[in-house]
Amino acid sequence: MTVRIIPHQGPGQGGSGLLDESPFSLAATDAYVRWRDHRLAHHPRTPGDLIVEVANPAALTPAEEGALADRLARCNMAVYAGPAEPILSREGLRAFGRRFGLERLDANMLSDIDGITPLSVAEGGTRTRYIPYTNRPLAWHTDGYYNAPDAQVRAILLHCVHPAAEGGANALLDHEVAYILLRDADPAHIAALSRPDAMTIPGNAEEGQPPRPDSVGPVFSVMPDGRLHMRYTRRKTSIVWAPDPAVQAAVAALEGILESDTSYILRHRLAAGQGLICANVLHNRTKFEDSGERGDGARLLYRARYHDPIHIQHQETLVP
Ligand SMILES: [Fe+2]
Repeated sequence: MTVRIIPHQGPGQGGSGLLDESPFSLAATDAYVRWRDHRLAHHPRTPGDLIVEVANPAALTPAEEGALADRLARCNMAVYAGPAEPILSREGLRAFGRRFGLERLDANMLSDIDGITPLSVAEGGTRTRYIPYTNRPLAWHTDGYYNAPDAQVRAILLHCVHPAAEGGANALLDHEVAYILLRDADPAHIAALSRPDAMTIPGNAEEGQPPRPDSVGPVFSVMPDGRLHMRYTRRKTSIVWAPDPAVQAAVAALEGILESDTSYILRHRLAAGQGLICANVLHNRTKFEDSGERGDGARLLYRARYHDPIHIQHQETLVP
């Protein structure tokens, strides 16, 4: 087996001229079809294809980093499988992120002082009112869909310190594949969900926190670096979709994809020592049950959200 190091090029990142035409332009049919065919042909087939064994996530070897980068380039997500013990420190998690260009943490109002949020069942306080801090299922969404336009979440790390006794699995769908499935069904869905007023999340105010204004924006947008970005939540309350019938039809089509048994949806339950890195792809979480006393058998994950996009420094493709 040889290891070939190839430069990473996503849409809009190349300077070759060949990639100058964005596949995300509805007018660029040829560029779109080329990009789509390449994307679908290289998509992982099973959740196991996402997993890369690593000795220490805080100090990846070049081969481990390259193998993770290969998954990220193919489907915007990868799972590292590190040791359950010793428990990865928060600084270790940040060091992992830096290998992929992730520096600027999104300090949301519920994250701890270092910007990394422990996800576990909250015993009291503000967090108990938010589903992520309960054992209830979490509907499909991308993170930070309510953030201001200049503070969108481009990447997420989720590290599992301790899984639940039962449940707590994630389903994952690359948002670029969701775009493809929608555009192939009807390009009008893309136009509708790209409307700057497609989705509104009404504002929110927490005691002791600055109030957050209404968040109005598109579902799909193309970032200045040429990459596709997605804001979405499947929640039914505290959300206002544009009344335009085209938007309503597109939302229904997207829900149909998320409910389907498409093999592009990958399901994985993080084990202790495992973690997910992704370009804020669509994800959900099943309900879970903890066992025993808190702090012992309780599910605990660390989550870091970044404003930076994932940057692949080098990518290793394993050639048989
Ligand atoms: Fe999330």
